[in-house]
Amino acid sequence: IPVDPFDLVLFGGTGDLARRKILPGLFHRFAVGQMPQDARIICTARSAMDRAAFIELTRSSLLKFASAAKENSSALESFLQTIDYVQVDAAGQDGWDALSKALRPDMVRAFYLSVSPSLFGPIAHKLNNHGIATPQSRIVVEKPFGHDLESAKALNADLRGNFEEHQIYRIDHYLGKETVQNLMALRFANSLWEPLWNSTHVDHVQITVAESLGVEGRGEYYDRSGAMRDMVQNHLMQLLCLTAMEPPSRFTPDAVRDEKVKVIEALEPVDQSDIVRGQYRAQGEEGSYHDHSGNPQSRTESFVAIKVNIGNWRWAGTPFYLRTGKKLRARSSEIAIVFRDPPHMIFPKMEGRRGNAMIIRLQPDEGITLRNTIKEPGPGGFRLTEVSMDMTFADALDQHAEPQDAYERLIMDVIRGDQTLFMRGDEVEAAWAWADPLIEGWQDAGRTPAPYDPGGSGPEDALMLLHREGRRWREIM
Ligand code: BG6
Repeated sequence: IPVDPFDLVLFGGTGDLARRKILPGLFHRFAVGQMPQDARIICTARSAMDRAAFIELTRSSLLKFASAAKENSSALESFLQTIDYVQVDAAGQDGWDALSKALRPDMVRAFYLSVSPSLFGPIAHKLNNHGIATPQSRIVVEKPFGHDLESAKALNADLRGNFEEHQIYRIDHYLGKETVQNLMALRFANSLWEPLWNSTHVDHVQITVAESLGVEGRGEYYDRSGAMRDMVQNHLMQLLCLTAMEPPSRFTPDAVRDEKVKVIEALEPVDQSDIVRGQYRAQGEEGSYHDHSGNPQSRTESFVAIKVNIGNWRWAGTPFYLRTGKKLRARSSEIAIVFRDPPHMIFPKMEGRRGNAMIIRLQPDEGITLRNTIKEPGPGGFRLTEVSMDMTFADALDQHAEPQDAYERLIMDVIRGDQTLFMRGDEVEAAWAWADPLIEGWQDAGRTPAPYDPGGSGPEDALMLLHREGRRWREIM
């Protein structure tokens, strides 16, 4: 369904995210007819450049990063017609009047701030001061939303001083992933699972976001964040919320986000003994975290595993184990719902039997696996074995359906004015209020992260986090 015409102003138009994700995403939506021909994309940056030079730059980015651009040159040329370039000094005074003139009246305006978070406040302020922000305007920002609760509050105050909360779109690109949204459909559009979705039936939940790459190239940013701030406070927290939340009464932005906030507020304080931090070390040709971060003294974690308890009726007694890290065996993300054993077992114990589980695979190879126990086929006595019922979304869905990148979907939602998949200010603050004491706890105790070898599943201690409770992590594959 095409969206209404719009003016999208992309601050940081020459930056990496704009070139790799945002402009290719918009091009795809244009090529399939969702972005109308009379929409306008006004890119801004500090560089002195005329429109023709910027169009050439964009053409080369699209040919590199948008797979369809090569095959569909007429769409590419028409898309480039929608693009304009205005030189704006985001931190200074230059270019704002020119930007104002480049925009059409009475049109949905979306301001996408693909710039350093330190510029979010100043840009919001200038948009307002120069009368560029209108009631139909939206402002789009992306993480990091602060470094802790205090800075997140300050950032929210800056944004809210210039835009209403309903105009602020905070992107967590995990919410734009197809399978992450599918989690809501799985839970709230089926009747089969919800009766089992509680501590009576679920023994524990494992949420793993494993990455095979290290922090090469962005070590400076990463070293100030670590896995906790870079991944857990936002992406893993969103996965936890969608897995644990109560069914919202309606599928509306605030009904969904209210339920997510309730989950975060129900998180119990975490003991330091329930946190394992790790840092990858050098192996063979591979550099260490210290090499990649450029900080030989660094105590920042490139891996973290945490046992989280949710203090509410649905989940008391069912721990959620979160784990994420760089330089692990594979790039693989999943949520595993591990069910309790039957209350009484009439069959002989099966060596290594792992019981029922539902594994929701987020990436790659999105799909769902249901682990079941059956009788081992054949005449060899009554022995049990495991089988999996597998559903791979790519097989189940229309093969011709155009795959959508997270950014494409989210930008179209901004234009439609649908905030369901965006984080509300109080949600961000609640997540920091939970994360801050954990971080302070290990900083105060002077704890250093445990070393781990690249290509594995993180430090030994992370395995112990589950072993000591008679559980075990799923293999990272
Ligand atoms: C980003 C983090 O938000 O998410 C990166 O800053 C991380 O460190 C990335 O690599 C992971 O995203 P995805 O979509 O590749 O799982």
